[in-house]
Amino acid sequence: MNIAIASDHGGYGLKETLKQHLEEKGISFTDCGTDSEASCDYPDFAEKACRLVQEGAVDRAVLICGTGIGMCISANKMNGIRAALCGETFSAHFTRAHNDANVLCMGARVTGPGLAEMILDEFLATPFEGGRHQRRIDKIADIERREHHA
Ligand code: RB5
Repeated sequence: MNIAIASDHGGYGLKETLKQHLEEKGISFTDCGTDSEASCDYPDFAEKACRLVQEGAVDRAVLICGTGIGMCISANKMNGIRAALCGETFSAHFTRAHNDANVLCMGARVTGPGLAEMILDEFLATPFEGGRHQRRIDKIADIERREHHA
């Protein structure tokens, strides 16, 4: 398991907390920035991390901004990215099991560090169930293809 992690200024503190958590768990990660609390634009960092997912350089990505919403909107514009905004572990579990989400988004101004660690753990530990859910994932990909030909 190898993941990309990125944030804007609003998510920087939580990103650093989650990096430490990943280190303690022995999970390797690529930090795609940002590197400080200086104001920056979340789409730039969403794109960097999601590009690594698209290229297969990492298995999954974690994106953090103030609400998690800007990161999630940006990530879901990219082909093959299924990004889910999670504020509790139930959603983190089922977005892996049913949606095969490959990007987890969280809001640092919404979700505290302890819960964020649990959400991340659940997201990384839960496999995709496949079966009928694969048909739905395939239909998401069909929408993506139709949009690009519109
Ligand atoms: C930055 O102030 C804030 O807008 C950003 O972190 C995020 O919440 C956007 O969705």
